[in-house]
Amino acid sequence: MLDYKVRRVVESDRVDILEMARRTWGGHDYMPAQLHGWMRSRKCRLVGIEVKDHLVGMANLHLIDLGKTGWMEGLRVHPKYRKKGLARVLTQALVNEGIEAGVERLRYTTDSSNSASISLAHGIGMNVKTKMGVFWKGSLKRVKRGGVREPPVPVRPASARALLKEAGTLFSDRLIVHDWKAYDFSAEGIAQVVKQSEVYIGRKEGKIDSVTFGTERVEGGEGGWSITIYAESQQAFLQAVYSQILLAKEKVSPFVMGIYPMQFRDILLEQRWIPKWTQDFAILLFEKDMRPR
Ligand SMILES: CC(C)(COP(=O)(O)OP(=O)(O)OC[C@H]1O[C@@H](n2cnc3c(N)ncnc32)[C@H](O)[C@@H]1OP(=O)(O)O)[C@@H](O)C(=O)NCCC(=O)NCCS
Repeated sequence: MLDYKVRRVVESDRVDILEMARRTWGGHDYMPAQLHGWMRSRKCRLVGIEVKDHLVGMANLHLIDLGKTGWMEGLRVHPKYRKKGLARVLTQALVNEGIEAGVERLRYTTDSSNSASISLAHGIGMNVKTKMGVFWKGSLKRVKRGGVREPPVPVRPASARALLKEAGTLFSDRLIVHDWKAYDFSAEGIAQVVKQSEVYIGRKEGKIDSVTFGTERVEGGEGGWSITIYAESQQAFLQAVYSQILLAKEKVSPFVMGIYPMQFRDILLEQRWIPKWTQDFAILLFEKDMRPR
C-alpha cells in the first residue's frame, strides 16, 4: 500500500511539478505556462499528493463564473506513480474542494481518447455536456488555398458582446468552448471569453455567419494560435478556417489548434492538410451538478 499525503500545493513544489509536466505529452504540456498564475490566484485551489517528500501528483480547482463553477484542470500524476489510484484520490479531493467552496457545478474538458480521464469523470458522477472536434496543424507554410473572399473581421471587445448575442443561434448548446475551457452563453460567460480572446465576425449579406475566438496558446514552450470557430454553414466555416490560418502564418505561429462543432468534421477532413491522427479526436466537456437536491 502506497504511503501518501494529500495537501495543498506550495511554492517549493514547483520543481516536482515541472518534472511531471516535462514527462507529460512528450513535453508539450500547457501546464507550466499556467502554473504561476494558478499559484498566485485566490480563485485557484491546487491540491497535491506527496510521496517520500516529493509531489507526485496534482490538480487544480479554478473557481470561475463568479464562483458558481469549479473548473477542474491540470490533473497530473508522475509516470512512476500512475495506475495506483492517485488520480482518483486527487479527483475526489477536487470534489471536496468544490463542496467546501459551495460551487453549483464541476466541469472539465478532456480529449475523447483519454480513457483514464473519462473513467475518472464517470467515477464522480459526471456526464458529457457537449462534444466538439479538435485539430492541431503545424507546418502552416504548406497549407495552400486560394484567397479567402470575405474574411471574418476582428471586432473590438466593446462591440463583441452585442455581436455575439446577435449570433446566438450559432451556439445551439448555449455554451462557448474555447482553448479547452467552456463558458456559458450568458452575459457573464460572454464577458469572460471576450476578455481572454480576440473575436472575429464573418458575415454574408449583412448577417453574421461565423464567430471565431483566437488566443495565444503555449504548449511545451511554443506559442501557437488557438481558435474556436462557430459557423452557420460549411462555406462560412471554411472561410473562417483559412483566414485564421493566414493570420497564424502572419503571426509566425508554429501551430494552429482549432476547435469546431462536430457538424463540420466531414468538410474539415476533406482538407488535404488535416493530419489523419486528428480524425477521431474530440473534446468532451463533463459536468457534475453540485446543487443540493
Ligand atoms: C490521466 C492520469 C492523471 C491518470 O493518473 P493515474 O494515477 O494513473 O490514474 P488512476 O490510477 O487513479 O486511475 C484512474 C482510472 O483511470 C484508468 N487508467 C489509468 N491510466 C490509464 C490508461 N493509461 N489507459 C486507460 N485507463 C487508465 C484506471 O484504470 C482507473 O480506472 P478504473 O478505476 O475504472 O479502473 C495520468 O495518466 C496522467 O498524468 N496523464 C497525463 C496527463 C493527463 O492526461 N491528465 C488528464 C487530462 S487533463
